[in-house]
Amino acid sequence: MCTPTPGLRSVMVLLAAALVSTSVTSGEGWREEGVQYGQVGADVVLSCAGAPGRSGVEWWRDGAAALPEGCILRDGDLLLPQAELAAGGDYSCHDGTGQLLCSVSLRLGYLPGIPSVTCRASDYENFSCSWTPSVETFLPTRYITTYRKKLLMDGEKWRTQTSQVGPCVQDPGRPHTCSVHKCEFWSSYRLNVTEVNPLGSSFRLLDVTMQAIIKPDPPEGLVVEPVPSAPRRLRVRWQYPASWPKQPHFQLKFRLQYRPVAHGSWSMVETVNLSEVITDAFSGLEHVVQVGAKDFLDAGNWSEWSAEARATPGPGLTVTPGDEAITNAGLESPAEMPSLAPNPEPIDRSDPMEKVAILISLGIFSFFILALVLGITIAVWLRLRKPSKDETKKHDFLAAAVHMRALPKPQIL
Ligand SMILES: *[C@@H]1O[C@H](CO)[C@@H](O)[C@H](O)[C@H]1NC(C)=O
Ligand SMILES: *[C@@H]1O[C@H](CO)[C@@H](O)[C@H](O)[C@H]1NC(C)=O
Repeated sequence: MCTPTPGLRSVMVLLAAALVSTSVTSGEGWREEGVQYGQVGADVVLSCAGAPGRSGVEWWRDGAAALPEGCILRDGDLLLPQAELAAGGDYSCHDGTGQLLCSVSLRLGYLPGIPSVTCRASDYENFSCSWTPSVETFLPTRYITTYRKKLLMDGEKWRTQTSQVGPCVQDPGRPHTCSVHKCEFWSSYRLNVTEVNPLGSSFRLLDVTMQAIIKPDPPEGLVVEPVPSAPRRLRVRWQYPASWPKQPHFQLKFRLQYRPVAHGSWSMVETVNLSEVITDAFSGLEHVVQVGAKDFLDAGNWSEWSAEARATPGPGLTVTPGDEAITNAGLESPAEMPSLAPNPEPIDRSDPMEKVAILISLGIFSFFILALVLGITIAVWLRLRKPSKDETKKHDFLAAAVHMRALPKPQIL
């Protein structure tokens, strides 16, 4: 952990914990010929440059003599008490004959608010921050973005070093964002985003550590395909996001979510591999699959989900309960790609207990057949020998049958 503040894991919510400061100074560097900036609600004075202190001066606004309500003419100057936003416009002062003495474009607005800033790292070396203004100022605005690196000194104490100050570089193509390159994963950075406009400036400070804000881009190249002869399986593979250069000590882990297209709830599975076999898909139903990534050591946040990929597990030749047993895709050789090769698995993979049960039932069945044949034979023989004692013999046969059925199991077998 690089900063003394706890709860770094939730730093996407850094805003809440951010050090907030603001400073307002009078704007400089906004000098534009003929433009004057003013703050809404403040008193604004327009002076007639061509005729200071002169009477008989007339002010026009936007080429007409109509001036905002409540304005006061004093010694040639135009005073706008508690100027409203709508009072902005192109003003001109004229002498008694209507001749133009000077013109000024008045632009009214507000002081900058403290911007909201969030930072994110999509790799382990660079991070970028984006911000949104908290106040619509109606004025030209620019941002000064800098960082200061906090160094760990003497192994224990943190101290803010002034040596490591640099710009958070703004790219004109991506307004309201800046990035810091070549960062140290285990260092802490204090970011300063200052909003400046002609009336003043406001800044926000934000403490950033890479391991808290890291959020990889989604994995790429997601492919889902059915597994031949396995109607409940889908093989899924993907690649590292291009923005995450592969390095032994900065790896990603992944999670898959998948569901039949028509179903609402996702199933989820996590892996460190670049492929996975889903073993509980529904045969014949089209499935949708997405994959996300996170730093291997659980730093930062999960990426967004990748683009979807879809596949339908085919109805297979055999469905066996044993299919569920294997879940690790890493054990599957890449050579086992979908092909027309015959099913390498043996057809009969039934449970040994099942075989024993079948044998037992077959044994019992043949025993009863045998007993029946024997009984009929005896009956026929008795009838042929002593036709007069028919009734008693029939009774004896029944008794024998009952006796046989009552024999304990081991004897039957
Ligand atoms: C960090 O950014 C630089 C400049 O854009 C880039 O060359 C480098 O590859 C990035 N580092 C990583 C780890 O992606
Ligand atoms: C933040 O940056 C602004 C503009 O560079 C600067 O005026 C202000 O002092 C900085 N604030 C801190 C606390 O460094």
